[in-house]
Amino acid sequence: ESMQPFVFVIFGATGDLAKRKLFPAIYSLYRDGHLTTDFAVIGVGRTKMDNTQFRVSVKESINEFSRLSLREGEEWDRFAARFDYITLDIKDADAYASLLSAVEAREREMNLPGNRMFYLAIAPQLFGQVADSLKQSGLTNTVGWKRLVVEKPFGHDYTSAKELNEEIKRSFTEEEIYRIDHYLGKEMVQNIQVIRFANSMFEPLWNNRHIDNIQITASETVGVEDRASYYDDAGALLDMVQNHMLQMVMMVCMEPPSRLKTEAIRDEKVKVMRALRRYSEEEVDTYVVRGQYTEGKSKGSSLVGYREEPNVNPASTTETFVAARLFIDNFRWAEVPIYIRTGKRMPEKVTEIVIQFKELPKRLYFNKNNDLIPNLLIFRINPNEGITLLLNAKKQGADSQVVPIGMEYCNDCEDTSPEAYESLLHDAILGDSTFFTRWDEVSLAWKFIDPIRRAWDREPHSLTEYEAGTWGPAESHELLRREGKRWWTGG
Ligand code: BG6
Repeated sequence: ESMQPFVFVIFGATGDLAKRKLFPAIYSLYRDGHLTTDFAVIGVGRTKMDNTQFRVSVKESINEFSRLSLREGEEWDRFAARFDYITLDIKDADAYASLLSAVEAREREMNLPGNRMFYLAIAPQLFGQVADSLKQSGLTNTVGWKRLVVEKPFGHDYTSAKELNEEIKRSFTEEEIYRIDHYLGKEMVQNIQVIRFANSMFEPLWNNRHIDNIQITASETVGVEDRASYYDDAGALLDMVQNHMLQMVMMVCMEPPSRLKTEAIRDEKVKVMRALRRYSEEEVDTYVVRGQYTEGKSKGSSLVGYREEPNVNPASTTETFVAARLFIDNFRWAEVPIYIRTGKRMPEKVTEIVIQFKELPKRLYFNKNNDLIPNLLIFRINPNEGITLLLNAKKQGADSQVVPIGMEYCNDCEDTSPEAYESLLHDAILGDSTFFTRWDEVSLAWKFIDPIRRAWDREPHSLTEYEAGTWGPAESHELLRREGKRWWTGG
């Protein structure tokens, strides 16, 4: 599909996401020649600013956060001239008339065909209201296409997500709604389906006859940072599991789509969510571990506990770590444990998927510990994007002793890989929603999450502790040990 000229309206243009991700992504797409069309950007925010000040702030954010260093001169001037700013109280429906005039003025001046992309980089409580005002003001009434891009979190449970969805559907159809899960924009997450479905050597093994278990880890070294007002309420379950972790589960476990078409792919992902066993509230304790970091150390410096972090409730029972054992009740995955784990203040920032293959029927070879490492296929999503295939081979010189050897592919050794937001914005401009989440995926994810949240709210004592700078609570290791497994990531 070819790219059509458009106006890009960003709500929350003075916010963190716009600065860190959106402006740098637009710039990189432009510089790399991926924005092959005419476009204008209109920033919307509450802060008073004129176009000149706005362009300066865009420039600063690119200087600070872009992977490409900013090139001054005529090229920059042409780029910056596409950015306008409107001061607007987004809760005031009447104020949208000024936004409409700004959009129309740009469309006339640049002769744009009325394609409009609205990006909501704002508090989710405002999504519904903004969508309504876009419609009432006539902004969605255009001869070109219109699209709505929304950030997470999409609701805080199934009921609120459904309400939110109904609200925005008054102004946009499902096909026009692009729900962001930035993990779907990551190179190696998109690569999962290519590795699986473009090679003949994995797919025949990709089932419960040959796979022993699957482990998905997303560990972070950072703590709550300055986001306590959001995080202390959300916790790791809502912040990471409902969206990113489950999306990775879908990508790894889905059936091959019949065609590489958006809905064919998303249909297969939804089937995984349908087969994902929902725990009853009573089962939650058995299969889900939640933890909170306490005071600890990392690389010699000491770290405060979660409850001592600024703006965190000193009696908070919010989880900063979740590990779970998932069941996918279908022919392919019956009996295969799927383990997921994510947390703050862990020793390394790693996002990784490990596929552990089954042992052979009989062991003929052993390593020096009189053991044998299973074959592992590792998708390294971050850092060192790539894959590793771990095999056993003869140790040089030694008789029959074997050693593990790693076959490595590096997708991103020079660290030049495009950012998730570049790829997602590019797709949204083209109208390709493959790597955005469809409503039924989101709703099934909430239906899985809700009983866990309820069980925890009922029994605060199920919260375990882990020292900051460690690989999570003992209970997370026990979750695997009792099934005869161990976490591979992090040693
Ligand atoms: C965000 C969460 O969605 O993902 C953050 O809100 C988390 O808490 C982040 O740090 C992790 O993303 P990435 O791309 O750094 O792995």
